[in-house]
Amino acid sequence: MLILAIDTSCDETSVAILWKEYVLANVVSSQIDIHKEWGGVVPNLARRAHEENIDSVLSQAIKRTQSRLRGILRQEYQKPFTVLLKKFEKAEYKFSLGLVDAIAVTQGPGLAPALEVGVRTARALASKWNKPLVAVNHMEGHIYANMLRKVPKQKEVIPKIVFPALALLVSGKHTELVYMPKNNQYEKIGKTLDDAAGEAFDKVARMLGLGYPGGPILEELAHEGDPFAFDFPVPMKQSTDLNFSYSGLKTAVLYTVRTLKEQKKLDKKTLQNICASFQRVAVEHLVLKLKRALDNRTHVKTVLLGGGVVNNAYARTELRKVARAHNIPMLSPQDKLLRTDNAAMIGIVGYYKAQRKEFVKDIDALDREPRLSL
Ligand code: KG4
Ligand code: ZN
Repeated sequence: MLILAIDTSCDETSVAILWKEYVLANVVSSQIDIHKEWGGVVPNLARRAHEENIDSVLSQAIKRTQSRLRGILRQEYQKPFTVLLKKFEKAEYKFSLGLVDAIAVTQGPGLAPALEVGVRTARALASKWNKPLVAVNHMEGHIYANMLRKVPKQKEVIPKIVFPALALLVSGKHTELVYMPKNNQYEKIGKTLDDAAGEAFDKVARMLGLGYPGGPILEELAHEGDPFAFDFPVPMKQSTDLNFSYSGLKTAVLYTVRTLKEQKKLDKKTLQNICASFQRVAVEHLVLKLKRALDNRTHVKTVLLGGGVVNNAYARTELRKVARAHNIPMLSPQDKLLRTDNAAMIGIVGYYKAQRKEFVKDIDALDREPRLSL
């Protein structure tokens, strides 16, 4: 199945085209430059930027697919694409949206004005090209991003999720533990009570004047710092549930930064030490909760990671240690682009839903759901 997918849930305008689990195009246009001066995403500026960008992102995705398909024709290993190449040949080697089997779009969660642009575009394309439409939950996208593959240069096996599985989703808006007894079944067993992990990285980075989004910049500085220089409190250490909380840690960092500024002691080395110490504690919080979840559910067969914070190499390493200690394989999306918001992850869920024929019944009535939950 050939899927066209759109994600405009937050500050990235993205369009992807997929053949089964294989990404043919995954164009992401980031609005970081627009929101950076505000230190966070401004919903109406996001809407306007999505409106301005969506057409060009779509045509870039189409162009890329065209050249990818021509590339595959020259490749030796074509097996996963045999049917697709037949379609392409029939179309006289010209890719168009007419070849697509279904259109997938993020319905929520996200910012309402931002989601609206994607949903409207998807509805219009589905009507124009007479294609079935699939509505996708963005968080499902972060989970199934683990299955995405680039067009293979050599033979490649798509990993299998063995169920029951446990997904840890850590992004700028969500920090969630999701138990999956079976494919397509979700039980949220932990969530953040206040800030999301990525939000905490961004806010701490902002306090330190590091720029936006703060996570990747903070990680860079943490490399040079001493993770034990500051003894920030590990959140909810005594609690027995699986929820998360980042606002106490954030406030502890804020007080420390304030005091150091007053004492004019916030030099470069100290800043690096704060980053490293915050990162250690922020990750320890995730580690402890994952550990607790796996201790309670000893029958879990796969751990899945998803969301922008999974780009943090220290977090991946520490979380992997937990999975290893429990003898459970852990998957994380193949590359950086697939861990942060992108339309390919929406496309893969769209593909699975289309296989189950879970199409939107009334295309014109499809509306965004900013608070959609798993
Ligand atoms: O999944 P995502 O792209 O968007 C949401 O759905 O929220 O996640 C973005 C978040 C931001 O808060 C960003 O600072 C954080 O992921 N992030 C990181 C890193 N890269 C991105 N946090 C820590 N370390 C990183 N390397
Ligand atoms: Zn996301």
